[in-house]
Amino acid sequence: MSRFEDIFGQPPAVIAQAPGRVNLLGEHTDYNDGFVLPTAIPQQTTVSLRPSGGGEFIVHAADLASESRFGRDAPPGDHFAQYVYGCIRGVEASGTHVPILDIHVRSTVPMGVGLSSSAALEVAMLRALRDLLSLDIDDVRIAQMAQRAEIDHAGVNCGIMDQMASSLADSSRMLFLDTRTLERRVLPRPAGTELLVLDSGLSRSLAASAYNMRRAECEAASNALGIAALRDVTDASSVDSLPEPQRRRARHVVSENRRVLEAANGVDAEHFGRLMNASHASLRDDYEVSVPTLDALVEMLQSHPDVHGARLTGAGFGGACVALCREGAAAGAGRDVIERYRRAGHVGRMLVPEPEENP
Ligand code: GLA
Repeated sequence: MSRFEDIFGQPPAVIAQAPGRVNLLGEHTDYNDGFVLPTAIPQQTTVSLRPSGGGEFIVHAADLASESRFGRDAPPGDHFAQYVYGCIRGVEASGTHVPILDIHVRSTVPMGVGLSSSAALEVAMLRALRDLLSLDIDDVRIAQMAQRAEIDHAGVNCGIMDQMASSLADSSRMLFLDTRTLERRVLPRPAGTELLVLDSGLSRSLAASAYNMRRAECEAASNALGIAALRDVTDASSVDSLPEPQRRRARHVVSENRRVLEAANGVDAEHFGRLMNASHASLRDDYEVSVPTLDALVEMLQSHPDVHGARLTGAGFGGACVALCREGAAAGAGRDVIERYRRAGHVGRMLVPEPEENP
């Protein structure tokens, strides 16, 4: 894998990193002003850069072996470079001139599986710019600027969970976040547990269009209920007056918020696992963002003796699943389930714990 020096002939001025994230509970709640409970994963994105004195920005993506060049006022065509461009524009919009840069990106965060490789890139890029330009911005501001970059320049109308998790979470604890007020608490995982994350191998091709549709359905539901956001539902039965599918969408958001609050109060591993299983059922039946093969993988996880609970994670339609396992048993459970999944005709892989042969 190339280094900055190999590509640009001299060392970088700054190097910054940010992790991907896996969400344990609180799916599709962030754009409803609700509650989420993600944690960082060990995989990181690293951005190295230095002012070049040249005429255009150059972004070298080591993992993609590709390079993108763009000017200050010309958005790049390459998807990965749009996140970088969005961060540069965000810093300029806040009043700081960004010099023309040589930029090198490498990442161990799996791409396209719902573990927020884009948030990791944005947060790492903004951390690098903060260091280079001595910007007076804290980690929450970084998350907000990263979200803006994604919405305005990568065209994804996302909530703020991923960027807050990448900017503020660590991989040993959970970040309980109120996405309306951005109040947060760092919480321990239930005692004696370990996380397992598997990639279902299913591409998330429907995710972007369905994501926007679900957002619109939630907005329609909160408008019909006369509230600012579904977070404000106080009587769960009030959603029963909504037409379908809004009723079920709202029911998911209300029940999912409740599960996050319950988990954040401190529950044991068994209880947390039950909340994860209920979250998956709600995402499958009420929110309809699962697919049968993903359900099958989640069921294989849920029925494993070392697994307390499991669910799809991220936007859905494919990508990754997360399971809460008995401490020390995650890698073994992962291998067992991947093998069962393979016998059922599908190809999955273990992402966390990081398998040695798949760094
Ligand atoms: C994507 C978005 C997040 C969040 C999740 C679903 O990861 O980027 O803001 O909405 O989907 O929980």
